[in-house]
Amino acid sequence: MTQIRPLRIGSVSLANNLVLAPMAGITDSPFRILCLQGGAGLVCAEMVSAHALHFGNEKSGRMLQISPKEHPVSMQIFGSDEQTISQAARQAQAAGADIVDLNAGCPVKKINKAGAGCVLMKDEAKLARLLTAAVKSVAIPVTLKTRVALTHAERLGARLAKLAEDCGAAAVTLHARAAVDVHNGPPNIDALAEACAAVKIPVIGNGGVKDAAMAAAFLQAGCAGVMIGRGAVGNPFIFQDITDEMAGRVPQGLTPGKRLEIYLKLIEENVVYYGERIGLNRSRKTAGYWISGFDYASSVRSQLVRLDNLAAVRTLFEQTRQMLSQK
Ligand SMILES: Cc1cc2nc3c(=O)[nH]c(=O)nc-3n(C[C@H](O)[C@H](O)[C@H](O)COP(=O)(O)O)c2cc1C
Repeated sequence: MTQIRPLRIGSVSLANNLVLAPMAGITDSPFRILCLQGGAGLVCAEMVSAHALHFGNEKSGRMLQISPKEHPVSMQIFGSDEQTISQAARQAQAAGADIVDLNAGCPVKKINKAGAGCVLMKDEAKLARLLTAAVKSVAIPVTLKTRVALTHAERLGARLAKLAEDCGAAAVTLHARAAVDVHNGPPNIDALAEACAAVKIPVIGNGGVKDAAMAAAFLQAGCAGVMIGRGAVGNPFIFQDITDEMAGRVPQGLTPGKRLEIYLKLIEENVVYYGERIGLNRSRKTAGYWISGFDYASSVRSQLVRLDNLAAVRTLFEQTRQMLSQK
């Protein structure tokens, strides 16, 4: 079976080629640290608006903060003009990012209306200008994250991977779904293979990877790395589990009780990072991923939504843990 192996992205050496995907509202510093502990070779931060950084937006500025515990880390920026993209890339570099990634795959309307995200796939000249501007502005590697297609009627992955290579990008990540599919449906592995054959830079495949079998299919298609998004939410040790399974070792997996234990640690980290109110709010958004796999999980989730302090959350988790251990 295919093995997980080290990967080089420009000047940056990764211990392995499994990458945490950027996810807005999820892949903040506490979660990135957790995924590195869970065996990820690289973690990607949620996208930050170059425009907002340009205007000194405090929240966006905070999103660039990197803890010493979370390297190697890639900071993702999005935008639609060369000047703000250059500036944002420099800010990400100054903040300590190991890699800067340009988003050209986001299908969210608000982002697209501003000329950023997946609409850049329709305007290759503009995409090339933005990517080149980022590459020229920083000494760290710049990567592109885009998709294999906008609609089912076309395949753009190979063209866009070549564009990234020609602009000096050190790697390209391809979400193997069309923009019209947003995040749903099976990945198009043939489209990934076509793109991998078209370039020399590493192609990191993304979309629908939740186990070693799918990760192996991506690597066999020629991908140099595999990026995992929702498969890591509620299961940050998926990276280690995939590595173990591919090496012929038995993956540890997570029992519901162990999952709860890790979730509580993340909630505690979020409270330290954001303060109690925002930390709990952010934590609750992913409760469906974490509190699952046992009969009364939905009741525990609805109790969690109503709690507004960490002490009460700890009590709920302790009661749930005791109930689980009695089974
Ligand atoms: C809640 C959520 C937020 C996301 N935010 C971003 C983002 O900020 N930047 C980005 O490039 N992709 C973003 N994505 C897309 C993911 O990076 C990834 O491409 C997608 O989830 C497919 O991978 P998966 O099937 O492994 O989840 C987001 C996806 C989700 C579900």
